[in-house]
Order: sequence, then structure tokens, then C-alpha cells
Amino acid sequence: MKVSVSVLSNEIKPQDIVKKLDLSKPDYIHIDIMDGKFVSNKTWTTSEVKKFTSYSTLPLEVHLMVNNPSKYIEDYALMNTSIIIFHYEAVKDINEMINKVKLYGLKVGIAINPETNIYVLIPYLNMIDEVLIMSVHPGKSGQSFIEESLEKISVLKNIILEGNYKTIISVDGGINNETGLLCKDAGADELVSASYIHKDIINNIKTLKNI
Ligand code: DX5
Ligand code: ZN
Repeated sequence: MKVSVSVLSNEIKPQDIVKKLDLSKPDYIHIDIMDGKFVSNKTWTTSEVKKFTSYSTLPLEVHLMVNNPSKYIEDYALMNTSIIIFHYEAVKDINEMINKVKLYGLKVGIAINPETNIYVLIPYLNMIDEVLIMSVHPGKSGQSFIEESLEKISVLKNIILEGNYKTIISVDGGINNETGLLCKDAGADELVSASYIHKDIINNIKTLKNI
């Protein structure tokens, strides 16, 4: 299982965790960006992210929970970013946004909120690398996993297999060893976690990787 470690909290100090991350080698550092508009919380500024991530060589997965994601692409393209994920609900012209991210040579993903129907993504599956299924309402870590997400994962997995798409399914919110296993069984390829992993970074990354 691919594992992406969310470092949403501004209280996390890079020097405290990057050594542990380098040892446990998650696939990505998941950077949650919030603008106080698309969601009510605010997180990192780009210069804070730059500083934080300069301590690590791990690739970044940037999750933009913002109203105007296109204006963030250039800044993140200059960092060690592998993929930029924007929200379906935040963008009017999805095709244009996908192409903008690709122009920078980055992978592209689309996130969907718990109340958004998975079928809206079908037209874009042949153009994107990842779907990020939100299994909590975006905005903060430490919330409980929404069980209905499992049905969404399995419906999407079937669509992907039938269409022979290369898109991977990642799940974000309320992930721990138990919910992570349920997601895997439903068809997930990647798990994003903050609160569970930060309880015991090295062991819990290992547990999720081995799910
Ligand atoms: C939620 C963020 C998540 C969050 C996950 O809005 O997108 O990445 O940090 O936190 P946990 O794993 O605690 O639910
Ligand atoms: Zn996230």
C-alpha cells in the first residue's frame, strides 16, 4: 500500500519529524493547503512549506483545499512536488486546470468531498493520475472516517478497471490500521494519514505500508 504522511498541523516542527520520515520512507509527504475560503481553516503559506520540505528529500503530494488552485501551481512546481491535487468542487473548468498542472510536468489528481458523487469524475479519468476520496469533511485532521466512503471507493475501482484507466485511488481522512484495511479491501491504492501516523511515526507508517 502506498502511504502519504499528512503534516497539516502548523505545530509540527520539521526538525522533529523529518529524520523519522526519512527512516520510515513513506511514498509522499502530503501537504494540506487551506485558504480559509474553500474550507474555514488556514494552513501553510508557500514559504513555510518551502522551509519545512527543505529538510527532506521525500516527494510532495500537494492537496489544495482552496478556491483558486491554479494560482498555486507555479510555486509548488518549483519544490520537490510529484503531484498536485485540486478539488473538483473548487474549479469551473476542470480540463483547463488539469492541463495547467501538466504543463509543469507534474502528476495531477482530483479530490472529491464526501457529498460529491463519484460519477462526476468519469470524464476526467483518462487524463488524471489520482483520485483523492475525502473520507472526512476537508478542513481538519482528527475526524472520524465516513463509512460511506467505502462504497465510493469500490464503485470507482470498478469504473477504473472496466475502463482500463491508470488512475490510482487515494483516501484521505480518519485513516488508521482498521479503516486503512477496509479501504484496501474496497480498492484503494494509497492511504493519507495525519493523526494516526503522528502517534508513532515509524511504527504506524510501517503498519499502513504493510496493509
Ligand atoms: C483533511 C486533510 C487531511 C488530514 C488527515 O482536511 O486533507 O489530509 O490532515 O488527517 P487525519 O488522518 O487525522 O484524518
Ligand atoms: Zn489532505
